[in-house]
Amino acid sequence: MAKLFAVKPFSALRNEAVEEGEHTLKRSLGPVNLITLGIGAIVGAGIFVLTGQAAALYAGPAVALSFIVAGITCAFAGLCYAEFASVIPIAGSAYTYGYATLGELVAWIIGWDLVLEYGFGAATVASGWSGYVMSFLEQVGLTPSPALARWTTTWGNTLYFIHGQWVSATALVSGASTAGLPHVTGSFVLIAFVAILAVTAVLVIGIKESANLNSAIVFVKLSVIGVFLVLGIGFLLHHPHLAKMNWHPFIPPSDGHGHFGIQGIVAGASSVFFAYIGFDAVSTAAQEARNPQKDMPIGILGSLIICTVLYIIVSGLLTGIKPYTSLNTPAPVADGAAAIGAGWGVFMVDVGAIAGLASVMLVMILGQTRVLYTMAKDGLLPSWVSDIHPRFRTPWLVTIAVGILVAFLAAFFKIAFLGELVSLGTLLAFTIVCLGVWVMRVRQPDHPRPFRTPWVPFVPIAGMLISASLMVSTDLPAKIGFGIWLVVGLAIYFGYSTRHSKVQRSLKAEPAAASTGQD
Ligand code: ALA
Repeated sequence: MAKLFAVKPFSALRNEAVEEGEHTLKRSLGPVNLITLGIGAIVGAGIFVLTGQAAALYAGPAVALSFIVAGITCAFAGLCYAEFASVIPIAGSAYTYGYATLGELVAWIIGWDLVLEYGFGAATVASGWSGYVMSFLEQVGLTPSPALARWTTTWGNTLYFIHGQWVSATALVSGASTAGLPHVTGSFVLIAFVAILAVTAVLVIGIKESANLNSAIVFVKLSVIGVFLVLGIGFLLHHPHLAKMNWHPFIPPSDGHGHFGIQGIVAGASSVFFAYIGFDAVSTAAQEARNPQKDMPIGILGSLIICTVLYIIVSGLLTGIKPYTSLNTPAPVADGAAAIGAGWGVFMVDVGAIAGLASVMLVMILGQTRVLYTMAKDGLLPSWVSDIHPRFRTPWLVTIAVGILVAFLAAFFKIAFLGELVSLGTLLAFTIVCLGVWVMRVRQPDHPRPFRTPWVPFVPIAGMLISASLMVSTDLPAKIGFGIWLVVGLAIYFGYSTRHSKVQRSLKAEPAAASTGQD
């Protein structure tokens, strides 16, 4: 039993963190790369789609407050991630932090959970990406033929051709007649499949190449958001009466069913939480950072702060430009730009979303492969998973394997289910990281910490409580899906990992060191 809670000694982690050579990951990322990796993973479907839904259904103009609440939740977890990433700069992220503090079984659960977060996260975003590509093609007058349109939507979903556009059955006004409309039924989202394979190819070629591509994409998406901010602020300064009308009441009265009022702000925060997912993925690049102890906290917290500020301003402007009741659409930011009178707004936002979502896929798959790589190095997965390509210096075999699996996931599953599952997995990771920081402070109070989480234990406890309460509020199908995922993971752990674990082997040799984590 004790071996399930064996922790990985800090001395072993320190040795791994300083490994060099052709079979190790390449250290080439600086603080700017790390911040852009974070922004690359964070800004995606959340801001471009969920903002409108959260305003229309839950919070009204106070959706900006929902973003603040969700941002504070992530800040608690982000501060804990920053401490761990500075002390244990290993690609396994929360999995390794769990291994160093809470033991192997918890580490396995969290590693398996991260695999779900990043893999299913990339699949969710790829599936949404397909919708934006369609919208973009329609904007530039290249309406897909029926033969092509059927490859852009998930299995069983029907698209109808109305006013020159393919519209999903679920997005039609309720009661609208579809009789006689041209339609196609999806079976396989080919665009999402190809997108994931393309991203996988870049990730195999190199970390620097991947980071450069990500930086270019981040530049495009930040420019689009920047243009929207300038247009929006200019518009509201010229039409203050409109802003006054749309922002009043700022917190619409509650309907007694969790919509609007204070409860609505909290429900809105849970709904926009997905928009923040991704800052934690920065920590998986720890072994590819030139100076991880200093730069990991900068990358994690810097990207989180920049995105929080952007989200609050974008959502505030959007509800000033358009009445919140009109924002429950697939592309609310594009609609906002169109309402300003910028006819090219929809086109611009489509470009931003296409770019934005591509980098989310890139960083999520990067994160997933790095966690698997670390688990394999610890002996918990077969050794081919941690095989590094001598020229590219990337974990190429696992990247290809993961890329193919995620491409199939993206091609078959529905976005809503995947998104809930990803939020649940992320919140579990946050909870364990917060707990781990607290445990490490108690067990290893004098261990040098280049970055210290402030107000311990308040910050970790607050992070755990908020994350746990958001987990409880996720939908039942996601909870069942997550349960099945965990059962599969535990079967692999007990069937393979316990028998190959390097820490357990060293526990047999030196029981005291491995079971306490002291070195
Ligand atoms: N935060 C990422 C997004 O919004 C996952 O797409």
